[in-house]
Amino acid sequence: MDKIVTEDGSITFYNEAAGENYHTKAGARQEAIEKYVKALEIIPGKVIFDVCFGLGYSTAAALDAGPFTVYCFENDAKILKEILDIDSEFKSFHHIKAFIKGYFEGNNVYEKDGVKLIMVFGDARKTILTVPEQADYVFFAPFSPAKVPELWTAQFFKDIYAKMKPSAKLATYSYAKFVRNNLKEAGFQVFNGPILGRRSPSTIAIKN
Ligand SMILES: C[S@@+](CC[C@H](N)C(=O)[O-])C[C@H]1O[C@@H](n2cnc3c(N)ncnc32)[C@H](O)[C@@H]1O
Repeated sequence: MDKIVTEDGSITFYNEAAGENYHTKAGARQEAIEKYVKALEIIPGKVIFDVCFGLGYSTAAALDAGPFTVYCFENDAKILKEILDIDSEFKSFHHIKAFIKGYFEGNNVYEKDGVKLIMVFGDARKTILTVPEQADYVFFAPFSPAKVPELWTAQFFKDIYAKMKPSAKLATYSYAKFVRNNLKEAGFQVFNGPILGRRSPSTIAIKN
């Protein structure tokens, strides 16, 4: 996979099948901090669903704010392997590396210092239905709606909504109208999130 250095110095990759980078060129690390952790004003000790875990930057940014239980949804072992060779400025990235190392040794769950990370490997549209807990926060980051519209449907948002606690919040980098309409159809209230590296805001969706 082609490695890319983004504008804040953090590493991302180019995914050939999707024809896209895993993060904005404006800053992969900054994107995780601004669009997910700061956007949702997350409170430590809660349950996060990181839907489309990738390099684990959003989860690392969350863990830098304190311990969480994170269900990590991903369907590509190749990107998970890249994590083992990355140096990252997230102070919690050692948790991500240890978790992924353990995952490749056959352990789906990692627990240390109040941090609990659970790998939910496979198509998130199916695996979400099997998760035994409800989320306080959802980080939603598939490749773009233009490339993979099937991951941005009202049906998938409905299934996620059903797995969230009352008043739980979802953040996504997309501001596409059809994404926002599908979120509304699933029952969410939709708001503008922060702006980073493009002129339009990201999206925050709150369960009623
Ligand atoms: C834009 S990247 C996410 C980047 C990630 N949030 C991070 O901080 O590194 C999208 C990710 O979704 C994963 N993905 C694609 N289709 C999926 C599916 N059906 N279920 C779960 N993960 C999927 C890809 O393998 C990729 O790692």
